[in-house]
Amino acid sequence: MTLSSQHSRDAKSTEIGEASSGGDFIPPYPFRYEKMPPVWTLVGMAKRNFLSVWGLEDFQGRLRSKRVFMRELVVCNRPDVVREAFQTNHEALQRKSPQMRHALEPLLGDGLFISDTETWAKRRKVVAPIIHGSRVRGFAPIMTDTIEEKRNEWSTLGEGAEIDALAEMAHLTAEIICRTIFGRELGKDYASEVVQGFSDYQRHIDQIDLFSLLGLPEWLPRFRGRAIKKPVERILTVLDEIIDSYQAQKQKGEASVIGGLLEARDDDGEPLSREAIRSEAAVIFMAGHETTANTLAWAWFLLSQCERSRKKLQVELDTVLAGKTPGFQDVANLPYAKAVIEETLRLYPPVPILAREAMKKTTIGGKSISKGSLVMVVPWLMHRNPVLWSKPDTFEPERFLDPKAKKPNKYGYVPFSIGPRICAGLQFGMTESILSLAILAQKFDLKLKDGADIQPVARLTLRPGDNLPMTLHPRAR
Ligand code: HEM
Repeated sequence: MTLSSQHSRDAKSTEIGEASSGGDFIPPYPFRYEKMPPVWTLVGMAKRNFLSVWGLEDFQGRLRSKRVFMRELVVCNRPDVVREAFQTNHEALQRKSPQMRHALEPLLGDGLFISDTETWAKRRKVVAPIIHGSRVRGFAPIMTDTIEEKRNEWSTLGEGAEIDALAEMAHLTAEIICRTIFGRELGKDYASEVVQGFSDYQRHIDQIDLFSLLGLPEWLPRFRGRAIKKPVERILTVLDEIIDSYQAQKQKGEASVIGGLLEARDDDGEPLSREAIRSEAAVIFMAGHETTANTLAWAWFLLSQCERSRKKLQVELDTVLAGKTPGFQDVANLPYAKAVIEETLRLYPPVPILAREAMKKTTIGGKSISKGSLVMVVPWLMHRNPVLWSKPDTFEPERFLDPKAKKPNKYGYVPFSIGPRICAGLQFGMTESILSLAILAQKFDLKLKDGADIQPVARLTLRPGDNLPMTLHPRAR
Protein backbone atom coordinates (compact mmCIF):
# COMPACT_ATOMS: atom_id res chain seq x y z
CA MET A 1 0.00 0.00 0.00
CA THR A 2 1.41 3.42 -0.85
CA LEU A 3 1.23 6.12 1.75
CA SER A 4 -0.89 8.37 -0.45
CA SER A 5 -3.55 5.70 -0.71
CA GLN A 6 -3.80 5.35 3.05
CA HIS A 7 -6.58 6.91 5.06
CA SER A 8 -7.18 7.30 8.73
CA ARG A 9 -10.08 5.53 10.37
CA ASP A 10 -10.74 7.98 13.13
CA ALA A 11 -10.90 11.27 11.24
CA LYS A 12 -14.43 12.32 11.94
CA SER A 13 -14.78 16.01 11.41
CA THR A 14 -12.72 16.51 8.26
CA GLU A 15 -11.20 14.36 5.57
CA ILE A 16 -7.50 13.75 6.13
CA GLY A 17 -5.43 16.66 4.89
CA GLU A 18 -8.52 18.55 3.78
CA ALA A 19 -8.14 22.34 3.88
CA SER A 20 -10.21 23.96 6.59
CA SER A 21 -11.63 27.46 6.59
CA GLY A 22 -13.26 27.47 10.02
CA GLY A 23 -13.57 24.04 11.68
CA ASP A 24 -11.00 21.48 12.77
CA PHE A 25 -8.11 20.61 10.51
CA ILE A 26 -6.69 17.11 10.83
CA PRO A 27 -3.43 16.96 8.88
CA PRO A 28 -2.27 13.73 7.23
CA TYR A 29 -0.83 10.72 9.01
CA PRO A 30 -0.19 7.16 7.86
CA PHE A 31 -2.72 4.37 8.22
CA ARG A 32 -2.88 2.81 11.72
CA TYR A 33 -3.54 -0.89 11.77
CA GLU A 34 -5.69 -2.61 14.39
CA LYS A 35 -4.18 -6.08 13.97
CA MET A 36 -0.40 -6.24 13.85
CA PRO A 37 0.97 -7.57 10.52
CA PRO A 38 3.75 -10.24 10.49
CA VAL A 39 7.19 -9.00 11.59
CA TRP A 40 8.73 -9.24 8.09
CA THR A 41 5.95 -7.06 6.69
CA LEU A 42 6.57 -4.58 9.49
CA VAL A 43 10.31 -4.51 8.76
CA GLY A 44 9.58 -3.74 5.08
CA MET A 45 7.20 -0.97 6.14
CA ALA A 46 9.79 0.41 8.56
CA LYS A 47 12.39 0.61 5.81
CA ARG A 48 10.10 2.74 3.63
CA ASN A 49 8.63 4.88 6.40
CA PHE A 50 9.13 4.28 10.09
CA LEU A 51 5.86 6.00 10.98
CA SER A 52 3.73 3.29 9.39
CA VAL A 53 4.86 0.56 11.81
CA TRP A 54 2.63 1.80 14.64
CA GLY A 55 -0.86 0.47 15.21
CA LEU A 56 -3.78 2.10 17.02
CA GLU A 57 -2.86 0.55 20.37
CA ASP A 58 0.69 1.89 20.25
CA PHE A 59 -0.65 5.45 20.49
CA GLN A 60 -2.59 4.72 23.67
CA GLY A 61 -0.24 2.38 25.50
CA ARG A 62 1.89 3.34 28.50
CA LEU A 63 4.79 0.90 28.41
CA ARG A 64 4.91 -1.70 25.64
CA SER A 65 7.58 -4.13 24.59
CA LYS A 66 8.11 -6.31 21.52
CA ARG A 67 10.85 -8.75 20.68
CA VAL A 68 12.02 -8.20 17.11
CA PHE A 69 14.27 -11.16 16.33
CA MET A 70 17.24 -10.83 18.69
CA ARG A 71 16.42 -7.48 20.25
CA GLU A 72 13.83 -6.37 22.78
CA LEU A 73 12.20 -3.04 21.91
CA VAL A 74 10.55 -1.10 24.75
CA VAL A 75 8.36 1.95 24.10
CA CYS A 76 7.71 4.46 26.91
CA ASN A 77 4.57 6.41 26.10
CA ARG A 78 3.48 8.30 29.26
CA PRO A 79 5.21 11.07 31.22
CA ASP A 80 5.95 8.89 34.28
CA VAL A 81 7.82 6.20 32.34
CA VAL A 82 9.54 8.76 30.08
CA ARG A 83 10.83 10.46 33.19
CA GLU A 84 12.08 7.18 34.57
CA ALA A 85 13.82 6.24 31.31
CA PHE A 86 15.46 9.54 30.33
CA GLN A 87 15.90 11.28 33.70
CA THR A 88 16.08 8.79 36.57
CA ASN A 89 17.77 6.04 34.54
CA HIS A 90 20.01 8.32 32.49
CA GLU A 91 23.09 6.43 33.56
CA ALA A 92 21.92 3.08 32.18
CA LEU A 93 20.07 4.57 29.19
CA GLN A 94 22.33 7.37 27.96
CA ARG A 95 23.75 5.44 24.97
CA LYS A 96 22.22 6.31 21.59
CA SER A 97 20.81 3.48 19.51
CA PRO A 98 23.21 1.46 17.34
CA GLN A 99 21.34 2.73 14.22
CA MET A 100 22.01 6.35 15.18
CA ARG A 101 25.63 5.67 16.08
CA HIS A 102 26.37 3.71 12.91
CA ALA A 103 24.74 6.34 10.74
CA LEU A 104 26.56 9.31 12.22
CA GLU A 105 29.87 8.00 13.61
CA PRO A 106 31.83 8.24 10.34
CA LEU A 107 31.24 11.99 10.29
CA LEU A 108 30.71 13.01 13.91
CA GLY A 109 33.42 10.76 15.41
CA ASP A 110 33.16 11.09 19.19
CA GLY A 111 31.00 14.24 18.89
CA LEU A 112 28.49 15.13 21.60
CA PHE A 113 25.42 13.93 19.71
CA ILE A 114 26.45 10.27 19.60
CA SER A 115 28.98 9.90 22.40
CA ASP A 116 28.17 8.75 25.92
CA THR A 117 29.60 8.34 29.45
CA GLU A 118 32.78 10.36 30.10
CA THR A 119 33.29 11.73 26.60
CA TRP A 120 29.68 12.92 26.40
CA ALA A 121 29.79 14.51 29.88
CA LYS A 122 33.03 16.37 29.06
CA ARG A 123 31.82 17.62 25.69
CA ARG A 124 28.36 18.58 26.93
CA LYS A 125 30.02 20.78 29.56
CA VAL A 126 32.07 22.55 26.90
CA VAL A 127 29.61 22.75 23.98
CA ALA A 128 26.24 23.41 25.67
CA PRO A 129 27.25 26.85 27.11
CA ILE A 130 28.39 28.00 23.64
CA ILE A 131 24.88 27.61 22.18
CA HIS A 132 22.96 28.05 25.45
CA GLY A 133 19.75 30.11 25.61
CA SER A 134 21.63 33.02 27.19
CA ARG A 135 23.79 33.31 24.03
CA VAL A 136 20.86 33.38 21.60
CA ARG A 137 20.40 37.15 21.85
CA GLY A 138 23.94 37.50 20.46
CA PHE A 139 23.22 35.13 17.56
CA ALA A 140 19.82 36.67 16.71
CA PRO A 141 21.15 39.45 14.40
CA ILE A 142 22.68 36.73 12.18
CA MET A 143 19.25 35.06 12.09
CA THR A 144 17.29 38.22 11.22
CA ASP A 145 19.75 39.33 8.52
CA THR A 146 19.72 35.92 6.86
CA ILE A 147 15.91 35.66 7.01
CA GLU A 148 15.60 39.15 5.52
CA GLU A 149 17.87 38.08 2.67
CA LYS A 150 15.48 35.19 2.00
CA ARG A 151 12.52 37.56 2.15
CA ASN A 152 14.20 39.92 -0.36
CA GLU A 153 14.98 36.98 -2.63
CA TRP A 154 11.30 35.93 -2.53
CA SER A 155 10.23 39.51 -3.31
CA THR A 156 11.95 39.31 -6.69
CA LEU A 157 9.99 36.18 -7.68
CA GLY A 158 6.57 37.78 -8.12
CA GLU A 159 2.95 36.80 -7.44
CA GLY A 160 2.23 33.07 -7.66
CA ALA A 161 5.89 31.99 -8.02
CA GLU A 162 6.39 28.29 -7.36
CA ILE A 163 8.85 27.26 -4.66
CA ASP A 164 9.83 24.05 -2.92
CA ALA A 165 9.21 25.24 0.66
CA LEU A 166 11.19 22.32 2.12
CA ALA A 167 14.31 23.14 0.06
CA GLU A 168 13.85 26.87 0.79
CA MET A 169 13.73 26.27 4.53
CA ALA A 170 16.70 23.87 4.35
CA HIS A 171 18.68 26.57 2.53
CA LEU A 172 17.66 29.24 5.04
CA THR A 173 18.48 27.24 8.17
CA ALA A 174 21.76 25.96 6.68
CA GLU A 175 22.85 29.56 5.98
CA ILE A 176 21.89 30.61 9.51
CA ILE A 177 23.73 27.76 11.22
CA CYS A 178 26.82 28.13 8.98
CA ARG A 179 27.12 31.84 9.75
CA THR A 180 26.52 31.11 13.44
CA ILE A 181 29.20 28.44 13.58
CA PHE A 182 31.85 30.08 11.39
CA GLY A 183 31.02 33.79 11.68
CA ARG A 184 29.24 35.88 9.05
CA GLU A 185 31.99 36.14 6.44
CA LEU A 186 33.37 32.60 6.46
CA GLY A 187 29.87 31.22 6.97
CA LYS A 188 28.66 33.00 3.84
CA ASP A 189 31.70 31.95 1.78
CA TYR A 190 31.55 28.30 2.72
CA ALA A 191 27.81 27.68 3.24
CA SER A 192 27.08 26.06 -0.14
CA GLU A 193 30.15 23.79 0.09
CA VAL A 194 29.27 22.65 3.62
CA VAL A 195 25.61 22.09 2.70
CA GLN A 196 26.56 20.07 -0.40
CA GLY A 197 28.92 17.86 1.61
CA PHE A 198 26.34 17.17 4.30
CA SER A 199 23.51 16.41 1.89
CA ASP A 200 25.77 13.96 -0.03
CA TYR A 201 26.54 12.29 3.28
CA GLN A 202 22.93 12.17 4.33
CA ARG A 203 21.85 10.59 1.06
CA HIS A 204 24.09 7.64 1.91
CA ILE A 205 23.04 7.19 5.50
CA ASP A 206 19.40 8.20 5.33
CA GLN A 207 17.96 4.77 5.70
CA ILE A 208 17.11 2.49 8.55
CA ASP A 209 20.05 0.33 9.58
CA LEU A 210 18.25 -2.97 9.44
CA PHE A 211 21.19 -4.94 10.82
CA SER A 212 21.16 -3.02 14.06
CA LEU A 213 17.39 -3.03 14.37
CA LEU A 214 17.42 -6.79 14.22
CA GLY A 215 20.11 -6.93 16.87
CA LEU A 216 22.83 -8.39 14.62
CA PRO A 217 26.36 -8.07 16.03
CA GLU A 218 28.22 -4.77 15.82
CA TRP A 219 31.20 -6.25 13.98
CA LEU A 220 29.21 -7.32 10.90
CA PRO A 221 30.16 -5.06 7.95
CA ARG A 222 27.45 -2.61 6.96
CA PHE A 223 28.22 -2.35 3.23
CA ARG A 224 28.21 1.39 2.98
CA GLY A 225 31.63 2.11 4.50
CA ARG A 226 33.38 2.96 1.23
CA ALA A 227 30.53 5.00 -0.26
CA ILE A 228 30.46 7.50 2.59
CA LYS A 229 34.25 7.84 2.84
CA LYS A 230 34.33 10.47 0.10
CA PRO A 231 31.71 12.88 1.46
CA VAL A 232 33.25 12.52 4.95
CA GLU A 233 36.74 13.41 3.69
CA ARG A 234 35.31 16.32 1.77
CA ILE A 235 33.47 17.76 4.78
CA LEU A 236 36.43 17.30 7.12
CA THR A 237 38.76 19.03 4.65
CA VAL A 238 36.38 21.99 4.34
CA LEU A 239 36.02 22.20 8.13
CA ASP A 240 39.83 22.21 8.51
CA GLU A 241 40.12 24.95 5.92
CA ILE A 242 37.51 27.07 7.69
CA ILE A 243 39.16 26.61 11.10
CA ASP A 244 42.57 27.58 9.62
CA SER A 245 41.10 30.70 8.00
CA TYR A 246 39.32 31.58 11.22
CA GLN A 247 42.51 31.31 13.22
CA ALA A 248 44.52 33.23 10.61
CA GLN A 249 41.98 36.07 10.51
CA LYS A 250 41.48 35.93 14.28
CA GLN A 251 37.91 37.13 13.83
CA LYS A 252 37.00 38.81 17.06
CA GLY A 253 34.06 40.80 18.32
CA GLU A 254 31.28 38.73 16.82
CA ALA A 255 29.76 35.70 18.57
CA SER A 256 30.60 32.49 16.69
CA VAL A 257 30.55 28.84 17.71
CA ILE A 258 33.99 28.13 16.29
CA GLY A 259 35.43 31.02 18.34
CA GLY A 260 33.79 29.50 21.42
CA LEU A 261 35.17 26.04 20.65
CA LEU A 262 38.70 27.37 20.07
CA GLU A 263 38.67 29.28 23.33
CA ALA A 264 37.00 26.54 25.39
CA ARG A 265 39.02 24.80 28.13
CA ASP A 266 38.07 21.61 29.95
CA ASP A 267 38.24 21.10 33.73
CA ASP A 268 42.02 20.53 33.47
CA GLY A 269 42.48 23.78 31.54
CA GLU A 270 43.16 21.90 28.27
CA PRO A 271 41.84 23.18 24.93
CA LEU A 272 39.83 20.91 22.61
CA SER A 273 41.86 19.02 19.99
CA ARG A 274 41.48 19.95 16.32
CA GLU A 275 39.60 16.70 15.78
CA ALA A 276 37.17 17.47 18.61
CA ILE A 277 36.54 20.99 17.29
CA ARG A 278 35.77 19.55 13.85
CA SER A 279 33.43 16.93 15.33
CA GLU A 280 31.51 19.42 17.45
CA ALA A 281 31.16 21.91 14.58
CA ALA A 282 29.76 19.02 12.49
CA VAL A 283 27.41 18.04 15.36
CA ILE A 284 25.96 21.52 15.61
CA PHE A 285 25.49 21.78 11.86
CA MET A 286 23.86 18.37 11.66
CA ALA A 287 21.68 18.74 14.77
CA GLY A 288 20.65 22.32 14.15
CA HIS A 289 19.91 22.51 10.47
CA GLU A 290 17.43 19.90 9.24
CA THR A 291 15.38 19.86 12.45
CA THR A 292 14.57 23.57 12.16
CA ALA A 293 14.06 23.33 8.39
CA ASN A 294 11.50 20.54 8.79
CA THR A 295 9.69 22.43 11.57
CA LEU A 296 9.31 25.48 9.35
CA ALA A 297 8.27 23.47 6.29
CA TRP A 298 5.56 21.71 8.31
CA ALA A 299 4.41 25.02 9.79
CA TRP A 300 3.94 26.47 6.27
CA PHE A 301 2.02 23.39 5.22
CA LEU A 302 -0.26 23.46 8.29
CA LEU A 303 -0.94 27.17 7.99
CA SER A 304 -1.72 26.83 4.28
CA GLN A 305 -4.44 24.30 5.17
CA CYS A 306 -5.95 26.14 8.12
CA GLU A 307 -7.22 29.59 7.24
CA ARG A 308 -8.32 30.36 10.80
CA SER A 309 -4.78 29.92 12.18
CA ARG A 310 -3.18 31.72 9.26
CA LYS A 311 -5.42 34.75 9.80
CA LYS A 312 -4.76 34.75 13.56
CA LEU A 313 -1.02 34.70 12.94
CA GLN A 314 -1.26 37.54 10.42
CA VAL A 315 -3.34 39.66 12.80
CA GLU A 316 -0.74 39.14 15.54
CA LEU A 317 2.14 40.03 13.23
CA ASP A 318 0.40 43.12 11.85
CA THR A 319 -0.70 44.47 15.24
CA VAL A 320 2.39 43.68 17.30
CA LEU A 321 4.99 44.54 14.70
CA ALA A 322 3.16 47.22 12.68
CA GLY A 323 5.38 46.57 9.65
CA LYS A 324 8.67 46.54 11.60
CA THR A 325 11.00 43.58 11.04
CA PRO A 326 11.10 41.65 14.34
CA GLY A 327 14.29 41.05 16.26
CA PHE A 328 15.13 39.02 19.36
CA GLN A 329 13.30 41.43 21.70
CA ASP A 330 10.01 40.94 19.78
CA VAL A 331 9.89 37.15 20.07
CA ALA A 332 8.33 37.26 23.55
CA ASN A 333 5.49 39.40 22.16
CA LEU A 334 4.48 36.88 19.49
CA PRO A 335 2.66 34.18 21.50
CA TYR A 336 0.55 32.93 18.58
CA ALA A 337 3.62 32.49 16.33
CA LYS A 338 5.23 30.54 19.20
CA ALA A 339 2.10 28.42 19.64
CA VAL A 340 2.09 27.60 15.88
CA ILE A 341 5.67 26.33 16.17
CA GLU A 342 4.89 24.36 19.36
CA GLU A 343 1.85 22.74 17.78
CA THR A 344 3.86 21.95 14.64
CA LEU A 345 6.50 20.27 16.82
CA ARG A 346 3.76 18.28 18.56
CA LEU A 347 2.17 16.97 15.36
CA TYR A 348 5.35 16.53 13.32
CA PRO A 349 8.31 16.22 15.74
CA PRO A 350 11.44 16.46 13.53
CA VAL A 351 13.08 13.72 15.59
CA PRO A 352 10.10 11.33 15.81
CA ILE A 353 11.90 8.55 17.69
CA LEU A 354 14.37 8.89 20.56
CA ALA A 355 16.09 5.57 21.04
CA ARG A 356 18.62 4.37 23.60
CA GLU A 357 20.51 1.13 24.04
CA ALA A 358 20.47 -0.16 27.64
CA MET A 359 24.10 -0.21 28.80
CA LYS A 360 23.19 -2.36 31.78
CA LYS A 361 20.21 -4.10 33.33
CA THR A 362 17.63 -1.71 34.73
CA THR A 363 13.87 -1.31 35.33
CA ILE A 364 11.20 1.05 34.01
CA GLY A 365 7.71 1.15 35.52
CA GLY A 366 8.52 -2.04 37.41
CA LYS A 367 9.43 -3.84 34.17
CA SER A 368 12.86 -5.40 33.98
CA ILE A 369 14.96 -4.16 31.02
CA SER A 370 17.88 -6.35 30.02
CA LYS A 371 21.26 -5.03 28.81
CA GLY A 372 21.19 -4.43 25.04
CA SER A 373 17.46 -3.70 24.87
CA LEU A 374 16.37 -0.74 22.77
CA VAL A 375 14.37 1.71 24.90
CA MET A 376 12.39 4.25 22.93
CA VAL A 377 10.48 7.42 23.63
CA VAL A 378 8.49 8.12 20.49
CA PRO A 379 7.29 11.73 20.28
CA TRP A 380 5.25 10.72 17.22
CA LEU A 381 3.17 8.43 19.45
CA MET A 382 3.14 10.31 22.74
CA HIS A 383 2.27 13.66 21.15
CA ARG A 384 -0.87 11.98 19.74
CA ASN A 385 -1.71 9.86 22.77
CA PRO A 386 -5.48 10.40 23.32
CA VAL A 387 -5.04 9.91 27.07
CA LEU A 388 -2.75 12.95 27.22
CA TRP A 389 -4.24 15.30 24.62
CA SER A 390 -7.72 16.32 23.56
CA LYS A 391 -8.33 16.03 19.78
CA PRO A 392 -4.79 14.64 19.44
CA ASP A 393 -4.66 14.62 15.62
CA THR A 394 -6.13 18.11 15.17
CA PHE A 395 -3.96 21.14 14.38
CA GLU A 396 -4.85 23.57 17.17
CA PRO A 397 -2.13 26.04 18.21
CA GLU A 398 -4.55 27.50 20.78
CA ARG A 399 -3.97 24.49 23.06
CA PHE A 400 -0.55 25.97 23.90
CA LEU A 401 -2.12 29.32 24.83
CA ASP A 402 -5.07 28.16 26.89
CA PRO A 403 -3.95 27.44 30.47
CA LYS A 404 -7.03 25.20 30.93
CA ALA A 405 -6.39 23.06 27.82
CA LYS A 406 -5.57 19.39 28.45
CA LYS A 407 -1.80 19.05 28.20
CA PRO A 408 0.66 16.63 29.78
CA ASN A 409 3.61 17.74 31.90
CA LYS A 410 7.08 18.35 30.44
CA TYR A 411 7.78 14.62 30.13
CA GLY A 412 4.76 14.23 27.83
CA TYR A 413 5.80 16.82 25.24
CA VAL A 414 9.35 16.13 24.14
CA PRO A 415 10.19 17.46 20.65
CA PHE A 416 13.61 18.45 22.03
CA SER A 417 13.97 15.26 24.12
CA ILE A 418 14.21 15.55 27.92
CA GLY A 419 16.62 14.80 30.75
CA PRO A 420 20.38 15.40 30.72
CA ARG A 421 20.55 14.81 26.93
CA ILE A 422 17.89 17.42 26.11
CA CYS A 423 18.63 19.39 22.92
CA ALA A 424 21.44 21.83 23.65
CA GLY A 425 20.06 24.21 20.99
CA LEU A 426 16.42 24.34 22.20
CA GLN A 427 16.24 28.12 22.66
CA PHE A 428 18.27 28.69 19.51
CA GLY A 429 15.91 26.48 17.46
CA MET A 430 12.74 28.03 18.93
CA THR A 431 13.95 31.60 18.40
CA GLU A 432 15.13 30.83 14.86
CA SER A 433 11.80 29.17 13.99
CA ILE A 434 9.64 31.99 15.43
CA LEU A 435 11.72 34.72 13.77
CA SER A 436 11.71 32.91 10.40
CA LEU A 437 7.97 32.38 10.47
CA ALA A 438 7.29 35.96 11.62
CA ILE A 439 9.58 37.72 9.15
CA LEU A 440 8.42 35.70 6.14
CA ALA A 441 4.69 35.47 7.04
CA GLN A 442 4.64 39.24 7.60
CA LYS A 443 5.12 39.72 3.87
CA PHE A 444 4.01 36.44 2.25
CA ASP A 445 1.13 34.00 2.13
CA LEU A 446 2.21 30.50 1.12
CA LYS A 447 -0.33 28.25 -0.61
CA LEU A 448 0.02 24.57 -1.28
CA LYS A 449 0.35 23.89 -5.01
CA ASP A 450 -2.86 22.46 -6.46
CA GLY A 451 -2.84 18.68 -6.55
CA ALA A 452 0.15 18.27 -4.18
CA ASP A 453 -0.22 15.23 -1.91
CA ILE A 454 1.78 15.77 1.28
CA GLN A 455 2.43 12.82 3.59
CA PRO A 456 4.80 12.53 6.55
CA VAL A 457 7.82 10.30 5.95
CA ALA A 458 10.36 9.42 8.64
CA ARG A 459 13.88 8.20 8.09
CA LEU A 460 16.42 9.92 10.32
CA THR A 461 14.09 12.93 10.61
CA LEU A 462 10.39 13.46 9.91
CA ARG A 463 9.74 15.33 6.65
CA PRO A 464 6.82 16.21 4.38
CA GLY A 465 8.18 13.80 1.74
CA ASP A 466 11.05 14.88 -0.53
CA ASN A 467 9.64 18.28 -1.40
CA LEU A 468 6.85 20.70 -0.51
CA PRO A 469 5.56 22.50 -3.62
CA MET A 470 3.97 25.83 -2.70
CA THR A 471 3.21 29.16 -4.35
CA LEU A 472 4.24 32.58 -3.03
CA HIS A 473 1.77 35.43 -2.64
CA PRO A 474 3.01 38.82 -1.41
CA ARG A 475 0.59 40.16 1.20
CA ALA A 476 -1.09 43.47 0.46
CA ARG A 477 -0.67 45.96 3.30
C1 HEM B 1 13.36 22.91 16.07
C2 HEM B 1 14.64 22.60 16.10
C3 HEM B 1 15.26 21.46 16.86
C4 HEM B 1 14.71 20.30 17.32
C5 HEM B 1 13.28 19.83 17.19
C6 HEM B 1 15.77 19.57 17.99
C7 HEM B 1 15.61 18.33 18.59
C8 HEM B 1 16.63 17.64 19.22
C9 HEM B 1 16.46 16.34 19.83
C10 HEM B 1 15.16 15.55 19.86
C11 HEM B 1 17.66 15.96 20.34
C12 HEM B 1 17.96 14.65 21.07
C13 HEM B 1 18.12 13.55 20.07
C14 HEM B 1 18.16 12.18 20.69
O1 HEM B 1 18.01 12.03 21.89
O2 HEM B 1 18.35 11.23 19.92
C15 HEM B 1 18.59 17.03 20.07
C16 HEM B 1 19.92 17.02 20.46
C17 HEM B 1 20.80 18.03 20.18
N1 HEM B 1 20.53 19.22 19.52
FE1 HEM B 1 18.70 19.80 18.83
N2 HEM B 1 16.93 20.29 17.92
C18 HEM B 1 16.66 21.46 17.25
C19 HEM B 1 17.55 22.47 16.99
C20 HEM B 1 18.86 22.49 17.37
C21 HEM B 1 19.78 23.58 17.10
C22 HEM B 1 19.42 24.85 16.35
C23 HEM B 1 21.00 23.21 17.61
C24 HEM B 1 22.30 23.97 17.63
C25 HEM B 1 22.41 25.26 17.51
C26 HEM B 1 20.84 21.89 18.22
C27 HEM B 1 21.83 21.19 18.86
C28 HEM B 1 21.67 19.95 19.45
C29 HEM B 1 22.76 19.22 20.10
C30 HEM B 1 24.19 19.68 20.24
C31 HEM B 1 22.21 18.00 20.55
C32 HEM B 1 22.92 16.89 21.29
C33 HEM B 1 22.73 17.02 22.78
C34 HEM B 1 23.32 15.87 23.60
O3 HEM B 1 23.33 14.73 23.15
O4 HEM B 1 23.76 16.15 24.71
N3 HEM B 1 19.53 21.50 18.05
N4 HEM B 1 17.94 18.04 19.38
